[in-house]
Parts: sequence; C-alpha cells; structure tokens
Amino acid sequence: MNTSLAIYPGSFDPVTNGHLDLIERGAKIFGRLIVAVLRNADKQPLFTVDERVEMLREVTRSFPTVEVDVFEGLLVDYARRRGAQVILRGIRAISDYEYELQMALMNRKLEPSLEIVFMMPAESYIYLSAHVVREIAQFGGPLTGLVPPVVERRLRAKVS
Ligand code: PNS
Repeated sequence: MNTSLAIYPGSFDPVTNGHLDLIERGAKIFGRLIVAVLRNADKQPLFTVDERVEMLREVTRSFPTVEVDVFEGLLVDYARRRGAQVILRGIRAISDYEYELQMALMNRKLEPSLEIVFMMPAESYIYLSAHVVREIAQFGGPLTGLVPPVVERRLRAKVS
C-alpha cells in the first residue's frame, strides 16, 4: 500500500485545468494528496477562500485519495501538522524556476525532512495560469479548455 502523503499548496484563484492536470498526476504517484489553499490576508483574490475550496472539491470529487484543505502561516508547519513527507509544485517554464527554487530551498531549510517534488503539466497547459484566466474572464474572452466548466460558470458570474 502506498502510504505517502503529499501536499499540493497554492492560491488556486481559481483552479485551472493546469492545476487539475497536476492533481491527476500527483494522485497517481502519492498515496494521498492534500490540495491546500493558502489563506493569505495580503492578497486581493478574485474568489474567497471558501469559493476556491468549493470549486476544488467539486472538480476533484472523482479522486478518492485527494482532499482539499485550507492553511495559514508557514507551509512547513502545516506539512508537519498533517504528517506529510512531500510538497508537490507544478513547474511550467524556466521563468517559474527561480521562484520555485527559492521557495523549495527555503522550505527545505525550515524542514529538512520534507521533499519538494516538481511535476510538469501537459504541454497544452504550459502557457496557462490563474492570473491569465482571471484576465481573460474580466474582458469576456473565451475560457473553454482553460478551466473546468463549473469554474467557467463561476468566473462569468463573478465578473458580470
Ligand atoms: O499558487 P501560488 O500563489 O504560487 O502558491 C504559493 C504558496 C501558497 C505555495 C506559497 O506562497 C506558500 O507556501 N505560502 C505560505 C507561507 C510560507 O510558507 N512561506 C515560506 C515559503 S518560502
């Protein structure tokens, strides 16, 4: 039995097909996967944490080993509390690398027993980000193929 527990942390404002692709890949490798939404008072999100969690729960319903949760404070403290051995992050282009490397090394310094695992989404999602999705939605552009249908509906309602 695969007893590994990984945390996939992020803002998920909102969850995109790129995130979902990574969740699917992570769920195949790790025994359990927690998708953890950061409650961040500094950011001005489009969706509230509750809305983001609701959308994530809906789109991950078919994955029995995936849980959606919220965390505050340091990721390593949350990982310790949950007993996770792995932090999963998606990496798309080289431009992601510098930020991800800094975060990974800092997290490792704070908690050396944690492994940080990077996975690449499918090629078709390399250009996709929640930021781009929010922008397209705000200007009424097409979102098909970028986000799950439920997220598209919520985005349209949010910006209308
Ligand atoms: O989707 P994002 O916004 O790129 O996710 C960033 C996230 C939530 C993974 C990162 O900001 C985070 O872990 N924040 C929690 C605070 C923390 O632990 N900071 C130290 C990491 S260097």
